[in-house]
Amino acid sequence: MAKKNQSLGEFIIENQNEFKYSSGELSRLINSIRLAAKVVNHEVNKAGLVDILGAAGDLNIQGEDQQKLDVYANEVFIKTLTNREIVCGIASEEEDDYITIKGRNEKNDNKYVVLIDPLDGSSNIDVNVSVGTIFSVYRRVTPSGTPVTMDDFLQPGINQVAAGYIVYGTSTMIVYTTGHGVNGFTLNPAIGTYYLSHPLMKFPETGTIYSVNEGNYIHFPQGVKDYIKYCQKEEEDRPYTSRYIGSLVSDFHRNMIKGGIYIYPNTSKNPDGKLRLLYECNPMAMIAEQAGGLASNGFKRILEIQPISLHQRVPFFCGSKKMVEKAEEFMANAK
Ligand code: AHG
Ligand code: MN
Ligand code: MN
Repeated sequence: MAKKNQSLGEFIIENQNEFKYSSGELSRLINSIRLAAKVVNHEVNKAGLVDILGAAGDLNIQGEDQQKLDVYANEVFIKTLTNREIVCGIASEEEDDYITIKGRNEKNDNKYVVLIDPLDGSSNIDVNVSVGTIFSVYRRVTPSGTPVTMDDFLQPGINQVAAGYIVYGTSTMIVYTTGHGVNGFTLNPAIGTYYLSHPLMKFPETGTIYSVNEGNYIHFPQGVKDYIKYCQKEEEDRPYTSRYIGSLVSDFHRNMIKGGIYIYPNTSKNPDGKLRLLYECNPMAMIAEQAGGLASNGFKRILEIQPISLHQRVPFFCGSKKMVEKAEEFMANAK
């Protein structure tokens, strides 16, 4: 039972027996993520103070500028999970290939793989706007005792055993689910402890916020254009409010609390959309569904898509149930 003000450490221990194969491995994994998040949080918070801003000069596999904090966050999460030998593999938005971890005594017998977007919304770093981290956890499908293979990472989102995000905002929060609802914990930076501040988070069934990069309007599919016009129409509770931070974690977090829809559709520039199925859409989709919301590619449920590559992109419609259903209706009816 979630108790408000309980610390994340206490919560993890108390809820451990909710997991089907409770060996404590998943609890230790979440513990490592919470620790890495504190380290990254510390660095994000002083980003304006020290000279760590600006591009590192590398391009990541998607051909985007990599900021220094991306590199830093990537290293911290990978090192924390690797050193503690509690996962058998990691895939990161910032790495071309997945990483194999042999684990204790080089036995390859750990159960879980982690997929991570170490720093989401990185274009917001140098303007002091919220960024985040997104993570997703699967049980491996290949036999224990052997090194992981691509099959362990290319699982449909429905197989996730846990998913979550950290938002480095006005407060730092970790929000996650292990399939038993969504709980949000706020970091008290003075003592370095996260407390349960948002037990059993729920998307309002409908809302009045739509979040989309409208600058790309001309390149949107007709269904999205029609839905945006619907959002802007003077009728019932509309026009809706437009809010777009440009950091999926922050846009999603606000919409889950206030009620809203986030859309990153396919465009003529990005025919598969921009967001990554494995590091961004699947974990957010699991959280959304666990919170009573929906996540779709405009036509079908995100969690049921069979991935074909690590860095695959997908159009993303996510948020309050009724709003996503309405957007899907416009997609289906578009000429
Ligand atoms: P990342 O920083 O991990 O590359 O992700 C950025 C993503 C997402 O967080 C955000 O919602 C979206 O890109 C914004 O894209 P546009 O600037 O094209 O609107
Ligand atoms: Mn991202
Ligand atoms: Mn990123």
